[in-house]
Amino acid sequence: MSGSARRTANPAGHLRASARSDVPAFIVMDVMEAAARLEARGQRVIHMEVGQPAAAAPAPAIVAAQAALVSGRIGYTVALGNVSLRRRIARHYAERYGTDIDPARIVVTTGSSAGFMLAFLTLFEPGDRIAIASPGYPPYRNILTALGCEAAPVEVTASTRFAMTPEAVLAAHRERPLRGVLAASPANPTGTMMTAEALAALARTAEDLGIAFISDEIYHGLDYTFPAETALNLSADAIVINSFSKYFCMTGWRIGWMVVPEALVRPIERLQQNFAISVPTLSQVAAEAAFDGRDEMEAVKRGYEVNRRILTEGLPGAGFGRFLPADGAFYLYVDVSRFCDDSIDFARRMLEEAGVAATPGVDFDPVHGRHYIRFCYAGAEAEVREAVERVTAWLK
Ligand SMILES: Cc1ncc(COP(=O)(O)O)c(C=O)c1O
Repeated sequence: MSGSARRTANPAGHLRASARSDVPAFIVMDVMEAAARLEARGQRVIHMEVGQPAAAAPAPAIVAAQAALVSGRIGYTVALGNVSLRRRIARHYAERYGTDIDPARIVVTTGSSAGFMLAFLTLFEPGDRIAIASPGYPPYRNILTALGCEAAPVEVTASTRFAMTPEAVLAAHRERPLRGVLAASPANPTGTMMTAEALAALARTAEDLGIAFISDEIYHGLDYTFPAETALNLSADAIVINSFSKYFCMTGWRIGWMVVPEALVRPIERLQQNFAISVPTLSQVAAEAAFDGRDEMEAVKRGYEVNRRILTEGLPGAGFGRFLPADGAFYLYVDVSRFCDDSIDFARRMLEEAGVAATPGVDFDPVHGRHYIRFCYAGAEAEVREAVERVTAWLK
């Protein structure tokens, strides 16, 4: 496009982005970009920054998607998602958690990311306050901000296994009334999990306060010390958000689901009809078949367990004294305060000097995150071993 054409499109240069679009960047993406620049110069980088599995989607998912492509037409589906996929997800709840879920309460979404938008829009008005754990997954607060809501960060510490407690939520509610609580177990970035009792107590607190309880269960299936319980077994009002991205290694397929109380189904359906029409059909077909690839995914999970052991046994030798109990997901949140006061600088130097990319904690916790970095161990075992060796040599 020529310069004059550009000027014509915006003659007075008066277009401004809205204030609500002014949300912070995802720092992990900046680390990825810095890593890509080094790689372009020929340096090899071990990627432990992005939270995504190195493994491919389960073979049955790929075969089903190929067959659907060959069959020709990929049209819209109904807004709530293919009935057969919603039934298959309901069966998953029966098999995995022993719970009976009406498929009519299941909504297929474009990754769990779209599930958050739909849930927040359906549950909250602008100005509403929602409690989230800090450290926590940054898009929770950034999506809430963009929708005109307020994220109320609840600081979590080792004394509660880095999970929100009823007391902390009640204290936040006393400061200014909350309209919702969002919990994740296993959590990102900490990898820590809540026991079923702790999750139940939080859900009960939300019920008592008459506010929404949202449970992000995206890392279910990736639990190493005790099985994760679904909030659906703990509260009839819980809103559960899940995804095929992590356990099923389908990040790029952009497919997830929600389980919501019956009263919310129609409002969510109307939003989805207008926002997206429907979720990508090819991904829905693949997701349904993904459930037949569980054996394959269990093997991938065993690989994460090996990687987890390599890190938890190897990092102390590098001088990292403290990290959070890695109960689940594929993250280790490591205290680097012994080495520096600025995790962005630490991550930058570790990338440039040791060739290992990790995410600075400030992405997840603007206050204490400068003392932490997050390693993702969803990659190949050999690379995780090499990363420990490189970081150990670098810190010597
Ligand atoms: C805790 C948590 N929730 C939700 C998501 C969003 O995942 P997706 O939109 O791929 O389902 C992520 C991605 O890293 C995450 O870590």
